[in-house]
Amino acid sequence: MSKQAITLTVNGVVRQALVEPNQTLTSLLRDELGLTGTKHGCGVGDCGCCTVILDGETVNSCLVLALQAQGREVLTIEGLASGGELHPLQRAFVDAGAIQCGFCTPGMILSAKALLDVIPQPSREEITKGLSGNLCRCTGYEKIVEAVSDAAAKMSEA
Ligand code: FES
Ligand code: FES
Repeated sequence: MSKQAITLTVNGVVRQALVEPNQTLTSLLRDELGLTGTKHGCGVGDCGCCTVILDGETVNSCLVLALQAQGREVLTIEGLASGGELHPLQRAFVDAGAIQCGFCTPGMILSAKALLDVIPQPSREEITKGLSGNLCRCTGYEKIVEAVSDAAAKMSEA
């Protein structure tokens, strides 16, 4: 199968790549663009560690073809910090001890960002529901929920 050229915007930067027809968005980000913050886990849409934000909506990038990203905007974990400062969600995850191995963390934080973009002050139930597609095998989730709640509080003060 021959590769096809695509153009997309990743973390605010226009990028071009040659992709295989069956190549996933996870593979495009990690293998072609060097953005290894997006993790490859189950590969079948179950774990959420490959979550990115595509045109404002979270997607499991393992279930999206790279070709489907043509002309679209992708936000990965590498695009969250700005001006050398961690995003409040990233800071809150560190401060709350919500990161152990870290494998789930990029996807968790992007799902949390998408949640806070829609519900800036979510309840505990709304946080739990918003993160329900993201699995963590280390933390037991309590610290993660706490981190998202802390970040929401800090962001509302800003
Ligand atoms: S790697 Fe995509 S959902 Fe698990
Ligand atoms: S911190 Fe290890 S999977 Fe979540």
